[in-house]
Amino acid sequence: MKEKDAKDMIPISIDEFIDGISVPTDLYIRLGDSKFVLILKSGSKTQKKQLGSYKDKEVEYFWVEKNEYSKISQQNITLAGIAISKENVNLNKKTDILGAAAKSVFTELEHIGISPEIFYSARQVTEVTMSLIENHNQLQKLLESFTRHEDPLLAHSMAVSAVSVMIGKAMGWEKRITIEKLSLGGLLHDIGLKTLPPELLKKPMAEMSYEEIQQYQTHPFRGMQLLQSLGVVPDDIVSIVYEHQENRIGQGYPQRIRDVKIHPLAKVVALADQFCYLTMENTNYPVPRNPREAIMFMEYTMGQPFNREAFKALKTVVQGQSFGEINSKNKKAG
Ligand SMILES: [Fe+2]
Ligand SMILES: [Fe+2]
Repeated sequence: MKEKDAKDMIPISIDEFIDGISVPTDLYIRLGDSKFVLILKSGSKTQKKQLGSYKDKEVEYFWVEKNEYSKISQQNITLAGIAISKENVNLNKKTDILGAAAKSVFTELEHIGISPEIFYSARQVTEVTMSLIENHNQLQKLLESFTRHEDPLLAHSMAVSAVSVMIGKAMGWEKRITIEKLSLGGLLHDIGLKTLPPELLKKPMAEMSYEEIQQYQTHPFRGMQLLQSLGVVPDDIVSIVYEHQENRIGQGYPQRIRDVKIHPLAKVVALADQFCYLTMENTNYPVPRNPREAIMFMEYTMGQPFNREAFKALKTVVQGQSFGEINSKNKKAG
């Protein structure tokens, strides 16, 4: 048994470990405040049986040393890159693996704080996202598979990243660097929320006080500050993060700027953000709409406050999808 300061350790949910993978760092279980037992040495392989037996004992987490954690992220990202390119791996499995990679970036952010290395990992994750979209252009299926992730902000961020890429492509944007910025901007757009109290984020907007709404609306500014402090993040991405809550009619926040003043990439992410918000379960909309209903809602109920070209592109993305399944599901439900 080793005495360790819990502050120097990071928990990883057992569910994130895949069977038969050699672990890149020592893994511990926690027995008390500062008591950790080494259960798997770096380089040894995980076994389904062993993972299962810990779960049976209600061990939820394995712990790794903070300064070793990036090895786990890197492994997750590498695995995701390999899995996405495989044809015989199904979409749900692929997004699970991509989710684990994205999650390790978010975990590092939460426990270590943002650093140029984490930004680099986030970039690698978005590259994997981009190739996932190249191979599976099915919007509805992608959204459903992202929803499987239990961390709502992670699921939302992955979906916004993917939908932003789809819109950008439908707008005829082809340069790899542009698409990469959209994807990364989508993944990081709400990063400022990570600096706000978690209780606030669990509250539906309708239950927030005036002060709480004010506080919530600082997230684009907080995100911008966070990324700017790194000094390595391209300005376009910083602008996406700062302007993703603005809209064409000047009724967004924090600056209330109108369409011409909004960064072109931020216009796309703002739309993708709203679309994902409507189509995926969250505290404000517990019953998600299907993509077509979301389009109708934005167009008629909200009065389409987003950039017109981006909206047109989103419509073509949505219309290009097969919705037979969803319609029949809805009929059954109704
Ligand atoms: Fe946001
Ligand atoms: Fe968002």
